[in-house]
Amino acid sequence: MTHEIAVVPGDGIGREVTPAAVDVLSALEIDFEFVEADAGDAVAEETGEALPQETYDLAASADATLFGAAGETAADVILPLREAVDSFVNVRPAKAYPGIDAVRPETDLVFLRENTEGVYAGHEDRLTEDVATLTRVVTQSASRQLAEFACEYVSEGDHDGFTIAHKANVMRETDGVFRDTVAAVADENGVETDEVLMDAFATRICLDPTQFDVVVCPNLAGDVLSDLAAGLVGGLGLLPSANVGPERGLFEPVHGTAPDIAGEGVANPAATIVSAAMLLEYLGYDEESDAVHEAVESTLENGPRTPDLGGDASTEDVTNAIIDRL
Ligand code: NAI
Ligand code: MG
Repeated sequence: MTHEIAVVPGDGIGREVTPAAVDVLSALEIDFEFVEADAGDAVAEETGEALPQETYDLAASADATLFGAAGETAADVILPLREAVDSFVNVRPAKAYPGIDAVRPETDLVFLRENTEGVYAGHEDRLTEDVATLTRVVTQSASRQLAEFACEYVSEGDHDGFTIAHKANVMRETDGVFRDTVAAVADENGVETDEVLMDAFATRICLDPTQFDVVVCPNLAGDVLSDLAAGLVGGLGLLPSANVGPERGLFEPVHGTAPDIAGEGVANPAATIVSAAMLLEYLGYDEESDAVHEAVESTLENGPRTPDLGGDASTEDVTNAIIDRL
């Protein structure tokens, strides 16, 4: 069976790390058809549109999408692309790799972030010069869909349960709905949960990240807390993510276009290649996904390494070393 993969490199180092991930996927014995499409600053300058309709349509119909990064137009690209794949959860692992200089080398956790609502639902108003407002939207249906995914995630993986991070002591209605719905779904599925207030979580994860494993959170909390965890594991060049929908997914590194190093051929491809490993798992290629994870881990530990990790290797050297280890 052929899988159609939309490849959207975007701008800056997106154009360097996305082809590297495609090279890794191509080295596997899987029948992929890669279809490349434009998005981001460069195409916006040319055509006036950061996300051309054909790119949106391609992401909405392909089996999966691999995305690099977009520059100033990132929000105009990535939010609609997540919508194109109908993504309701953003899976963000934050794991410190052996041999990498991390603030907290013992960190190994996964955020399951609600991906459609909360304060990012887009209901902002400017009432007067003085007053701006924002309406926070939380629904039982989206919370339930996220919780069902979380239950499946912990049952399939090696996890005892999950932590619900929220602020229902202050946002009683919205985070109340979130916490109660997620906890009820976990209960129905026989999955254990505990709860933590999101501000306390921020302190506790810095002091001892091993207290947490799988963390389920509302949209904004997941965005901020997972970036905090990124800081603990030693750098943006390492963090992958998956935007998962019921029928398709979009896989992307957490980092942006890195204008300071773009064009030099030295971007760390690890985050994008691990995102590609998440794509493999999503399509059911668990063995191949594990193999890519292991090849990346071994390369990070033993080199070659790109300059962000203290090495002097190029993107291509690292990619080839990963492919050799596969
Ligand atoms: P950034 O992630 O592009 O870069 C931050 C720092 O990390 C830079 O010093 C960069 O060199 C380094 N870095 C990031 N990825 C790296 C990699 N793979 N290898 C080695 N070093 C790496 O974030 P920044 O500078 O805040 O944003 C730059 C542009 O990217 C902006 O225009 C922003 O809008 C866009 N952006 C896009 C995102 C997306 O498309 N999803 C996400 C974040 C930012
Ligand atoms: Mg963010």
